[in-house]
Amino acid sequence: RILILDFGSQYTQLIARRIREIGVYCEIEPWDVDAQFIRDFGAKGIILSGGPETVIGDDAPKAPGLVFELGVPLLGICYGMQTMAQQLGGQVIHANEHEYGYAQVRARGHTDLFRDIEDHVNVEGHGLLDVWMSHGDRVDQVPNGFKLMASTESCPIAGMADETRRFYGIQFHPEVTHTKQGLRILERFVSQICGCEKLWTTANIVEDSIARVREQVGGDDVLLGLSGGVDSSVVAALLHKAIGDQLTCVFVDHGLLRHQEGDQVMAMFAQNMGVKVIRVDAEQRFMDKLVGEADPEKKRKIIGHTFIEVFDEESSKLTNVKWLAQGTIYPDVIESAGSKTGKAKVIKSHHNVGGLPEDMELKLLEPLRELFKDEVRKLGVELGLPADMVYRHPFPGPGLGVRILGEVKKEYADILRLADHIFIEELRKADLYDETSQAFTVFLPVKSVGVVGDARRYDYVVSLRAVETIDFMTARWAHLPYEFLEKVSNRIINEIPRISRVTYDISSKPPATIEWE
Ligand code: XMP
Repeated sequence: RILILDFGSQYTQLIARRIREIGVYCEIEPWDVDAQFIRDFGAKGIILSGGPETVIGDDAPKAPGLVFELGVPLLGICYGMQTMAQQLGGQVIHANEHEYGYAQVRARGHTDLFRDIEDHVNVEGHGLLDVWMSHGDRVDQVPNGFKLMASTESCPIAGMADETRRFYGIQFHPEVTHTKQGLRILERFVSQICGCEKLWTTANIVEDSIARVREQVGGDDVLLGLSGGVDSSVVAALLHKAIGDQLTCVFVDHGLLRHQEGDQVMAMFAQNMGVKVIRVDAEQRFMDKLVGEADPEKKRKIIGHTFIEVFDEESSKLTNVKWLAQGTIYPDVIESAGSKTGKAKVIKSHHNVGGLPEDMELKLLEPLRELFKDEVRKLGVELGLPADMVYRHPFPGPGLGVRILGEVKKEYADILRLADHIFIEELRKADLYDETSQAFTVFLPVKSVGVVGDARRYDYVVSLRAVETIDFMTARWAHLPYEFLEKVSNRIINEIPRISRVTYDISSKPPATIEWE
């Protein structure tokens, strides 16, 4: 396995995902993790990530000295290369120009890392690589023992290697897809140079996870809050396969789910798979609590607290349960860890509804803790969940509660569900669903005029929202075809009498957010 030390780059998780795609297990730890941890981890190779800081200056984050002494191969990427250069006696300077974006790198020399990997060959017969650069500082002098491995015009030392120690540094980012040969370069590093076998496959993950769960819980009973979302669904499928009837799921229907979602969850898990699921219809209780509340954050809190209350009540009826299973995934783990000194600028994903009833005194079972979202999805498919469920767009915990602007009412939720269902159904029919990262409908509690026959009518307005994004931190509104939008709008207005007007949201994030509240 491979250890990645994180210096705070926004791409660090991408490095890990790529390496796992190659089939090699890896973990991310903050750059200042204990030396003892590094020793115990037993990495076959270590990667130093990029980062937003400058290595020049006394309080710059540094790689633990130990990594240079373990005798395992090292790959420094961007900041990782710079700190490697600096710490081993080379020199790093502030560059006059920042380099950001596409660059062509001349891959010099015949290093193990780049051998036979190239996009083009220039007239002198040197290999050229199309890469993605993003840096301010650059290495000006390589440390003793290193040779030049790559260069560009504005960055004469864009790669360096000490092949006796198997230390490599590259200034560009092999983990982003703009670097065309990036995956091959990473594969060369982990497979050939570090000698890792490709054992990290979905089939192996299923087998290992099942064995581990069985060993952990033995004959105990396990409780799971099933929401219908990807993570808890995959946990349910996995645990059902691992421990069968020892699993009980509690599914709280807060009345703010999508069209027929509750029935679908029951059909899938209870009827098809034979999982024990207790469905709690708590719509009325949630609606009562939400009466008169128009503030988005307060609505979130009310929904979150009520969810815990209901879940708590239901689960306290199950007397034999010893474990609470949760769909925590690896990005949650990394983001809550972070660097001890707070140097790494971790971008946090935000707010999840619910949380853990604190006084439950149950042991936590988190079988997806080591997995990225794409791995969780593959696991779901391998476990027999339908692909369109596993690849569904994300849905916020508070559900339609934050898609009904202002006060939430059952009447509004019912109207919104129908409109949203039409939008999603048409997206799927037009093969546009997978082209968008998230698409939904928002209910606006204002009345707008419409003319039906000779009569004027005043009815509600909805807005369609569809975005394309990779990380949900920034997003572009999806440029859906006009004909498509026209069709959806016609269907919504004709089929849902209470809606008189349909709009399309053309705001990008930032400054707008994806949700309207
Ligand atoms: P925003 O609106 O912040 O949304 O641009 C980014 C992503 O987060 C989801 N989101 C939430 N998810 N509870 C959740 O579990 C929430 O309260 C919540 N608010 C936003 C949103 O759907 C999008 O995917």
